[in-house]
Amino acid sequence: MATSATSKLLVSDFDSSVSHIPSNYVRPILDRPNLSEVESSSDSIPLIDLRELHGPNRAEVVQQLDSACSTYGFFQIKNHGVPDTTVDKMLTVAREFFHQPESERVKHYSADPTKTTRVSTSFNIGADKILNWRDFLRLHCFPIEDFIEEWPSSPNSFKEVTAEYATSVRALVLRLLEAISESLGLESDHISNILGKHAQHMAFNYYPPCPEPELTYGLPGHKDPTVITVLLQDQVSGLQVFKDNKWVAVNPIPNTFIVNIGDQMQVISNDKYKSVLHRAVVNTEKERLSIPTFYFPSTDAVIGPAHELINEQESLAVYRTFPFVEYWDKFWNRSLATASCLDAFKASTT
Ligand code: OGA
Ligand code: NI
Repeated sequence: MATSATSKLLVSDFDSSVSHIPSNYVRPILDRPNLSEVESSSDSIPLIDLRELHGPNRAEVVQQLDSACSTYGFFQIKNHGVPDTTVDKMLTVAREFFHQPESERVKHYSADPTKTTRVSTSFNIGADKILNWRDFLRLHCFPIEDFIEEWPSSPNSFKEVTAEYATSVRALVLRLLEAISESLGLESDHISNILGKHAQHMAFNYYPPCPEPELTYGLPGHKDPTVITVLLQDQVSGLQVFKDNKWVAVNPIPNTFIVNIGDQMQVISNDKYKSVLHRAVVNTEKERLSIPTFYFPSTDAVIGPAHELINEQESLAVYRTFPFVEYWDKFWNRSLATASCLDAFKASTT
């Protein structure tokens, strides 16, 4: 018998007191993780060394990015320029945040996805019919000075550590966007230029141990609404990516990030680079922490396929050009779904 719903706002405040998950977390049989069928080796996921990105071998790295983006949409990077100490401090302070008493964490609780700093649970608690075994803190972090005041001030190093991490990851993202513009055959500032004033958000995903990980998800299969996502994960496995009709585990490699193409990049590249389905599963033993950086256009930007990639004879525009805010409203008006949000933005074929 499934346990019934609890009165707690966050999973981390009831997970250790239940031996079965509450019924509103249980997925129907055809929508379960089937963990025994997941491919456990992530060797096939490209690992790209960025050390030579700004040297004589740049073209080679750009070529590797092109191949990773067009065949996979998912890759890992090393020698990425974000200092190990910055990364370690970020993981430590994030873990400290979630280990604080309930009263401290729920101070920031909100079910409203338009809030620029908030703690919540599941994906979109107002829209999710079945809940996900995840708590999270989500915040906007570019421009930092517009948001830092509202970030949590406990642990007391939180703002400083997060600001340092966000600044360093943003510099990495800008280098990646230049290289990816080049890999598409565009001017190196093309992508940056169409993102308007740019936007950067971070999530701190906290997945408590779960007594029945075969029945639920940390996050169900989805595609990111971003241009690109740069994910930091701790040493506990849980991320899986859908490749060749199978789920493949992306096991943690120290000092690397995982990068995935998001829906906006799929549009800009006119489908050359695809936003890829991925999910997070939970386990009985260990809590898991992941910290994605989501890079976006600003809400006033207008997104569409790069003109250079369209030509009348061979490649028609797959998408229409649209105000980014139109996509954003659509994304947050729903629960997390495997169906792409992009269907509504296809170019008309008439
Ligand atoms: C996300 C996501 C994966 C993970 O937050 O969009 O895909 O491993 N997270 O937490
Ligand atoms: Ni994601």
